Amino acid sequence: TEGVAVPELAEMLAVSETEIIKNLFINRGIQANITQTLELETARLVAEDLGVQVETPEEKSAATKTEMLDTEDLDHLQFRPPVITIMGHVDHGKTSLLDSIRKTKVAAGEAGGITQRTGAYHVDVEHEGETRQVVFLDTPGHEAFTSMRARGAKVTDIAVLVVAADDGVQPQTQEAISHAKAAGVPIVVAINKMDKEGAQPDRVKQELTEHELVPEEWGGNTPMVGVSAITGENLDELLEMIILVAELEELSANPDRLAKGTVIEANLDRARGPVATLLVQNGTLHVGDVIVAGPCFGKIRAMIDDRGQKVEAASPSFAVEILGLGEVPRAGDEFAVYADEKQARAIASERTAEMRSSRLQRAASSRRVTLSNVS
Ligand code: GTP
Ligand code: MG
Repeated sequence: TEGVAVPELAEMLAVSETEIIKNLFINRGIQANITQTLELETARLVAEDLGVQVETPEEKSAATKTEMLDTEDLDHLQFRPPVITIMGHVDHGKTSLLDSIRKTKVAAGEAGGITQRTGAYHVDVEHEGETRQVVFLDTPGHEAFTSMRARGAKVTDIAVLVVAADDGVQPQTQEAISHAKAAGVPIVVAINKMDKEGAQPDRVKQELTEHELVPEEWGGNTPMVGVSAITGENLDELLEMIILVAELEELSANPDRLAKGTVIEANLDRARGPVATLLVQNGTLHVGDVIVAGPCFGKIRAMIDDRGQKVEAASPSFAVEILGLGEVPRAGDEFAVYADEKQARAIASERTAEMRSSRLQRAASSRRVTLSNVS
């Protein structure tokens, strides 16, 4: 099988072998020795931690899907719901569309009521007689998407690109398209504000083809649905499209293992302490779990879902707010649950120390290697 020995990798990355072994332990909980051969994927992750961009030939399509999966998961894979990010130009209706989809409009008078800041919303969709779930990340659009991606976090399965039918493709529409493409994420276009007098959906489609997004009815492969967040027109079709695209992606995870995933947002609550919204990407997260999120250690004291309800467990693709971390992690930090509390504490404090000395950032140069050369 393909692989890279620790000394080989150390040489390629121009770091010591100890550095590699330390990184494996701190960042992945792997206790490696110097004679060990690492899987290409593991080697790639180590290299990226050390600030070196790695290119492997088959990377583009495979990496996004398998990032959070280990080989031992492969026999236990189950379907997981798609995670969607809504992107688009300012005022094109991203928030309105999500509100309308949730059908639980956050009423103006609700302030002081249930605090609903999970940053992610679960929506049930009826599809061929079954209830399917879709998870929407409520990010301020592509800024959060970009910064998370810049930090290596891959949280989105499908991007919904919102374009106002009366305004067409605008600068941030273009930005959103290039971010989604760079991340290898499929795009579903929602041509919004179809209720407006000046709506020109065909013009929007024409403009989108200039960015290589060609509607299916014109022989392309980008689903485009004309919708209105105000009247609710065609929102079911949009959700249907999302489900169909998700099916092609064959999204899966292993719910029967310790959870791991990504921090979506986090803050310090005066009454509750550090609060983080975690997107579970593999495994199942439970109250009482010992967790390391970025450099932060914690033991989950409580979990709250997007409806403000306390829950005991969260399965793949679900996002929950958790209490119990000692500090506030950053959005985009990865988290993992550990069976061994001592190991978790060791990893967290090593990472904290590591961040202080900011060694991990030192190689943030433009060095590149191609791992496939050495297999
Ligand atoms: P930012 O978060 O500022 O980028 O904007 P956004 O994309 O979230 O847009 P938002 O949902 O705030 O909508 C902007 C304006 O467009 C609001 O006044 C909405 O009421 C209006 N709007 C959104 N969707 C529709 C629609 O389908 N039809 C009409 N007529 N107006 C809409
Ligand atoms: Mg908005």
